[in-house]
Amino acid sequence: LASGPLAGRRIVVTSGPTHEPIDPVRYIANRSSGAQGAALGDALAGLGAEVIFVTGPAEVPPPKGVKVVKVDTAAEMRAAVMDALPADAAVFAAAVADWRVEQPATGKIKKTPDSLPTLQFAENPDILADVSALREGRPGLVVGFAAETDDVLANATAKRARKGCDWIVANDVSPATGIMGGQENMVTLISDDGADAWPRMGKDQVARKLAAKIAEALGPVSR
Ligand code: C5P
Repeated sequence: LASGPLAGRRIVVTSGPTHEPIDPVRYIANRSSGAQGAALGDALAGLGAEVIFVTGPAEVPPPKGVKVVKVDTAAEMRAAVMDALPADAAVFAAAVADWRVEQPATGKIKKTPDSLPTLQFAENPDILADVSALREGRPGLVVGFAAETDDVLANATAKRARKGCDWIVANDVSPATGIMGGQENMVTLISDDGADAWPRMGKDQVARKLAAKIAEALGPVSR
């Protein structure tokens, strides 16, 4: 049986990019490696949580000791997250595509000599906002991430309010920081208590520190 401060807790984690199909052989994607999400799943499981790890097609393999639910699209990710509820906490580390192709072609789109295809987009559901807004079955603690390149604090604070989540883990992903795709991260945790800037550290250390904060916030399991 699991032991640790999160034993008896159920936590949903989203991770990785999503792939949005154009036709049966093509898709739209983003550069998320899934590294921070995998580190988080690992850290939460390490503290004894039952982790439901909902992951898009990531480069980094999912951690051991979690329940892995593999998805491709944002719509599938949303359905998998809703299926995984109720949970004590939910942490949204996935880089969900903002848009999908409204009507993916059922057959491979052919190259034609005198016309170019056009793609009509539709907005994807915002999983973090939807879970934050649940009236019934909302996890006690909902944590979002905000990767920003400008006005990190102001943008992340506004994002927290807009999405209705409890915490936002904000980070500066300007190319000069080397954070995107790197091993290190430098984050600010924004909550009701204000903004707490953490020193630059490894992504696994960020994950462990965040997991410890989540354990502290949830407190001991009452039986
Ligand atoms: O809006 P933005 O993508 O910057 O928000 C980032 C946060 O929202 C992340 O926690 C991300 O996982 C979550 N998100 C989501 N569903 C979306 C878009 C973002 O859950 N469609």
